This record gives sequence, C-alpha cells and structure tokens, in this order.
Amino acid sequence: MLNIAVLASGSGSNLQSIINNVNSEYINGKIKVVISNNKDAFALKRAKDAGIKAVYENNEENVIEILKTEGVDLVVLAGYMKIISEKFVNSFENKIINIHPSLIPSFCGKGFYGKTVHEKVLEYGTKVTGVTVHFVDKGADTGAIIMQEVVPVLEDDTVNSLSKRVLEVEHMLLPKVIRLYSLDKIRIDGRKVFINE
Ligand code: GRF
Repeated sequence: MLNIAVLASGSGSNLQSIINNVNSEYINGKIKVVISNNKDAFALKRAKDAGIKAVYENNEENVIEILKTEGVDLVVLAGYMKIISEKFVNSFENKIINIHPSLIPSFCGKGFYGKTVHEKVLEYGTKVTGVTVHFVDKGADTGAIIMQEVVPVLEDDTVNSLSKRVLEVEHMLLPKVIRLYSLDKIRIDGRKVFINE
C-alpha cells in the first residue's frame, strides 16, 4: 500500500478527489498526512473531516522531517503555492508529483498559477488547453511529464467556465496517475516517462 502525502495551499478540491479515490479503493494507498503552508487552507479542513492528519507547516526542513517520519512513498503537490528547494527534491527523488492546469510547456513556469493560467490561455486564444501531471524537479513546472489530457477552449469561455472544466479533468487525471504509481506502472528514464497500463 502506497503511503501518500498531499501538500496543498488552497481549496483542496484535488485533495478531495484523492481522498474519494482512496476511499473507493481505486487507489490502493493511505493518505498519511496533508500539509499546508496556509493555515486557513480549506484543504486542511477537508483532511480533518476525512480523519487524516492535517498539519500547518511553513518551514521546509520540518516538512521534510514530517514526510520522513510518516514513511511517505509519494508526495503529491496539489495546488501547493510554494516552490520547493533542491534539497527537498533530492530527498524524494522521483517521488514528488505536481498537477498543473495547462498543457506544459505552455502557460507554465514562474507566475503561472491559479486563475492567471486560464486568463493567459484565453488572452492568447489557443483552441485547446489541458492538464499536466509531472514529476517535480528543481525548476518551476519543468520536470518529466507523466500524463496530459486535452481540454478544448470554447468560444464563449470565461476564466471561471474554463477553470471549472479543467478542474473536472484534474480530478480524474491526478488519481489515475497516483493509481498507476501505486501499481508500479510508471517508469522514468531521463525526461521520458513510460507507462505500462
Ligand atoms: C489546480 O488548478 C491545480 O492544477 C493548481 O492549483 C489548483 C488547485 O486547486 N496547481 P485545488 O486546491 O485542488 O482545488
């Protein structure tokens, strides 16, 4: 069984999708801890309501310590609004994944988070956007891509309507990747990720 940690800063709807998919046994794992750098994050309440250890912690050394103590196998960044250090990445090599609400390498990197991503997509006028789940390396959104899913951009889309449709796909794709990870079906070789479904 996979020991999972989820790091989240905001609403935690992706956390909720992981909780639901663990409860339904789609993911054979246990969420050992949810950590937030924001004490008011709704994600912390979702964790508590689900009976999961919820920790507000801003100090990265302490975060790493908690993850080690809890014996975490996979760290999921789900709306974690904090860049993590090289030391953190190296302590959990190929064990940290992130979800990003666009098709990387478009609309990602420094400054591309939250609603800004969708604003920029609409401003640019692309016909598709999407969701990316990737391994985390020391750069911003630069790690090897595990899975991507396309979301069409509609002519009458607003930031709200688009982000809502993208989130629905996020809630499907992130549990899918965690499940594959728990089944040991994801292999990384340099920048390439191979999946044996
Ligand atoms: C999601 O769009 C995720 O891709 C991005 O931040 C948002 C978090 O949403 N990294 P939630 O907190 O999971 O609802």
